[in-house]
Amino acid sequence: MTDTAPGTMPGTAPDTAPGPALGTAPESAAAFDPPELFAEPFPWPRTAFDPPELYAWLRERRPVTKVTTRNGQEAWLVTRYDDVRAVLGDRRISSDIRRPGYPKFGVFPPREEDRPFIWMDPPEHAVFRRLLVKNFLARRVEAYRDRLQALVDGAIDRMTAGERPADLVRALALPVPSTVLAWVLGVREEDQGFFNTATEHLMNRADFTDPHALERAMKAGMELRAYLDQLITEREAAPDPGDDILGQLVAAAREGTIGRNDVVNSGMLMIIAGHETTASMIATGTLVLLRNPGHVAELRADPGLLPGAIEELLRYLTVVHLVVLRVATEDIEIGGQLIRAGEGVIPLNFSANRDDAHYPDADRFDIHRPAKDHFAFGHGIHQCVGQSLARLELRVVWETLLRRIPTLGLAIPAEDVPVKLFSQISGVSVLPVTW
Ligand code: HEM
Repeated sequence: MTDTAPGTMPGTAPDTAPGPALGTAPESAAAFDPPELFAEPFPWPRTAFDPPELYAWLRERRPVTKVTTRNGQEAWLVTRYDDVRAVLGDRRISSDIRRPGYPKFGVFPPREEDRPFIWMDPPEHAVFRRLLVKNFLARRVEAYRDRLQALVDGAIDRMTAGERPADLVRALALPVPSTVLAWVLGVREEDQGFFNTATEHLMNRADFTDPHALERAMKAGMELRAYLDQLITEREAAPDPGDDILGQLVAAAREGTIGRNDVVNSGMLMIIAGHETTASMIATGTLVLLRNPGHVAELRADPGLLPGAIEELLRYLTVVHLVVLRVATEDIEIGGQLIRAGEGVIPLNFSANRDDAHYPDADRFDIHRPAKDHFAFGHGIHQCVGQSLARLELRVVWETLLRRIPTLGLAIPAEDVPVKLFSQISGVSVLPVTW
């Protein structure tokens, strides 16, 4: 979920040796006769709401299996709920992108000085979590509620005063999380348009159907870095760097706890991780709700159902799906399969969240199901630091939307809503609604 290093190119050569048949696979190699799609490089195309059907097939027959990625690397796909939990909780599994086996489709190794903490292991990773976590404690996040309510009301006022149909992405889904991010991080609200576009280009870098995606992503990464660098220089010149996250990071650099590059890298990570994720949940979640009028009627009648519905939407959509990547640092066994030190591991949180063994009839969207133990925010030490803020944003947006626009509906058939199929954060690019 972060930028690309200026001047580096994506790797094309495999960086792990082709693996022998390792360990005790749940099914013998001879009986492994997968659907044709398996021969295609990973990642495989998904649909608007659902993961590739092949995930279910693999969960059943080959839950830990080796695949070739689009840049020619090999990596282990982990598809079952329990195995994904085991991978994400295992200290012998690393997030360090500099390790050669780390799966790098769509990303290219950043320069050492450009590596943010999502790509670090303990103990260096812990320095950043300790610095940031206080900003996302329940009390601190709850203090944004009134301001957030006013923001959402204002966005809905403007939308309903304008023309019908309206695009819910531009009217609500993008501006709300990017304004909140500007408050929390301490970047200028008026620069939202810039960082919204830059993030979208960065997240689309793995879209191999667009020949310009990579070039655009690299340019966006450089612009975002230059933008943050300038903001940080201004803070450094001030006697008090400020109380927001950027100010806290500048203060930590002053004390020598982190380096100046770490300030820029953490700022980049927060911008990229912090708004398009939530924007995507708002837009795609609204689409799912509008396709389920029975659920919407229940939520209107009893708003107390909303927190559970939000967990179910997070589970069902798992919008951050191709970001959670790892590499083994020792030989380990996952789901009966031996994974050797140095081999790449892709713990598929989207597949785990659709595992029938954990969530009965997992492909069904059901707001009454207990879903809170999903992996939409990851799991383990890298679990999303901003999740309490994201939950509050989703809650205020949907509470207000359902209450204030009882006739809200889609302006085009659900099947015609354009979906981002290859972005590292899935979602819809426009959502035409009417009322
Ligand atoms: C619905 C919205 C969101 C979703 C689905 C989401 C999802 C995720 C996931 C899956 C990870 C784990 C990555 C990994 O294990 O490698 C993650 C990490 C992270 N997220 Fe979120 N996120 C959301 C909102 C936010 C917000 C609002 C912020 C900040 C304002 C944020 C900041 C971060 C950061 C900084 C990390 C890295 C944590 C670390 O490495 O320790 N996210 N997010």
